[in-house]
Amino acid sequence: VSDRNEDLSSRRIHILREDVSRKIAAGEVIDRPFAVVRELLDNAIDSGARRIELYVEGGGLGAIRVVDDGEGMSREDLELSVQRHATSKIREEQDLHRVTTLGFRGEALASIAACSRLEIRSRPGAQGTAAGTATAHRLVAEAGRTLSLEPCQGNPGTVVAVADLFFNLPARRKFLRSPSAEAALCRKTFLEKALPHPELELRLFMEGRLSQFLPPQDLRARVTAALALPEEHFYSREARRGAFTVRLVVGRPELTRRDRRLLQIYVNRRRIYEYALQQAVEYAFSGYIPGGAYPMAFVFVEAEPGEVDFNVHPAKREARFQSLPALHHLLVESVSALLEQFNLGPAAPPSGAVPSPPPAESRAAQAGIWPASPQWERCAPAAAPEKASLVPAAPPGGVSSTPTVVEPSAPAAGPPEQPRYLGQLFRLFLLVQRGDSLYIVDQHAAHERLLFDEISSRRFAAQQLLLPLRLEAQPGLVEALRARAPLLQRLGIEVESSQDGGYEITALPEQLLSIEEQTLLQALLWERGSLEELERHVLSLAACRLAVKDGQQLDERTATELVRRIFDLPNARCPHGRPVWYEVSREELFRRVGRTGRAGHP
Ligand SMILES: Nc1ncnc2c1ncn2[C@@H]1O[C@H](COP(=O)(O)OP(=O)(O)OP(=O)(O)O)[C@@H](O)[C@H]1O
Ligand SMILES: [Mg+2]
Repeated sequence: VSDRNEDLSSRRIHILREDVSRKIAAGEVIDRPFAVVRELLDNAIDSGARRIELYVEGGGLGAIRVVDDGEGMSREDLELSVQRHATSKIREEQDLHRVTTLGFRGEALASIAACSRLEIRSRPGAQGTAAGTATAHRLVAEAGRTLSLEPCQGNPGTVVAVADLFFNLPARRKFLRSPSAEAALCRKTFLEKALPHPELELRLFMEGRLSQFLPPQDLRARVTAALALPEEHFYSREARRGAFTVRLVVGRPELTRRDRRLLQIYVNRRRIYEYALQQAVEYAFSGYIPGGAYPMAFVFVEAEPGEVDFNVHPAKREARFQSLPALHHLLVESVSALLEQFNLGPAAPPSGAVPSPPPAESRAAQAGIWPASPQWERCAPAAAPEKASLVPAAPPGGVSSTPTVVEPSAPAAGPPEQPRYLGQLFRLFLLVQRGDSLYIVDQHAAHERLLFDEISSRRFAAQQLLLPLRLEAQPGLVEALRARAPLLQRLGIEVESSQDGGYEITALPEQLLSIEEQTLLQALLWERGSLEELERHVLSLAACRLAVKDGQQLDERTATELVRRIFDLPNARCPHGRPVWYEVSREELFRRVGRTGRAGHP
């Protein structure tokens, strides 16, 4: 103690004792029980195992054991494996740019050994040495010191058992949460390894009881089985560009959450927390789900090793990318394509029920709820067929050319029935019968979506304003104008400098005239977001202002016309993401009133 006091008072620099520095280094890699789970599973996966078992006891503080049937280790490798900087995975610094394994530092086993009682049994076999001839060995280490290394009985593969974690680091033990909270983190880690490795057979045992079994399966089945999600409501897709391959498993937009826990990004089979990539997925979903809700989406990126550097975080939770914008772009595109491909509006009509395009002449203008200026009347007929072509066209015979999803609750029925308008409810909902379902349609949301599609599909032609809109001089105005110049130009908005040295908007496209000046300026200049987001925001404002309102009585012809058009929508949600309708099937209605038979039965 006096030595230490002397050291502290004199503040001389000295080299840390080996056992102290080892503990510090170990603490960076292994801070909680789940870190042991992560590292041992990584090693098992790297060993080429097909089958892996994980045992967790006492939240991981009691014991953690991982059994694999991988390539195993010889006596010499086993001896080295618990040394620091001992790895079979890289040799030179340049190899860091070619890593295809999960491990590469040669730190994990040494770190675990430094803060626990560790036992490893291993026998080479699965690859390399003939299984029959190689012997198994057992290594025991404690607080970083190897106590024994002897031949033993054992199957090809490796068993790593960790007991009494942090027994020699009482301070660290104090910072842990309850065993059940630590156990939950161990399970989460297991799942984060299971999702990107659907080809493996995995078992998780908690307190000796089998708690999860995952057979080899395809990616969608793996994601939904591991997380107990309804598989039939998930869709998958693969896209490839340049150095990236992206596999997606995405839930219907109705399946939202209030947090991002089920919006997961994996890069080269590791879960990472990269905001830009999460944001890309959210952006693609933004027209489909309401604000404040998050999609269930699982993104698996395979990047060429040179594209991404994982050597930036001790737990490899972060990565650095060579070309993040390209990947961002690819994600937005492929998630959007998936949502469109499967026509993921709410309660999509049964397959084969793709409605026929509307007749060439537009009845919209007659219906009275479409803007009545001559310009609009001229534009509407041209816009309608174009919009209808967005719906995957069903070739004659009813077989859709794009993959169509059959809802489990809505088997493909006969030919689609024309919607029948029944009446208005609460001056907001339109009641519609179509096929075997009752649809409760939100008139404002429905009209808003139709107008939004129409507005965005037409050219934005600048029209001179009689009275220019003055832009109030305020700090940041010039920068805002400069940053948004491409958007302003695209939307046909002309800005000029005024005589007194300020700025004014001198021309606007007709589509935006419905928005109040201040709201428009606010949206164009001061809202935050990418130019695409701002554009969508401005156009949805315009649609909102023009659409029929809550409380507005609709005459029958207008309502019928509105209803007829919404079933053609590729995305039956309002531009802010709310569903346009709520569907109640005949079965459900019968069930609700306690009837079991079909219509006509007593
Ligand atoms: N389950 C296993 N089966 C076969 N070999 C293993 C297993 N676990 C570890 N090894 C061998 O021991 C070495 C050291 O493992 P360790 O986890 O400490 O380092 P690493 O995986 O190379 O890198 P990292 O520290 O990034 O995990 C590995 O490189 C591998 O050769
Ligand atoms: Mg490792």
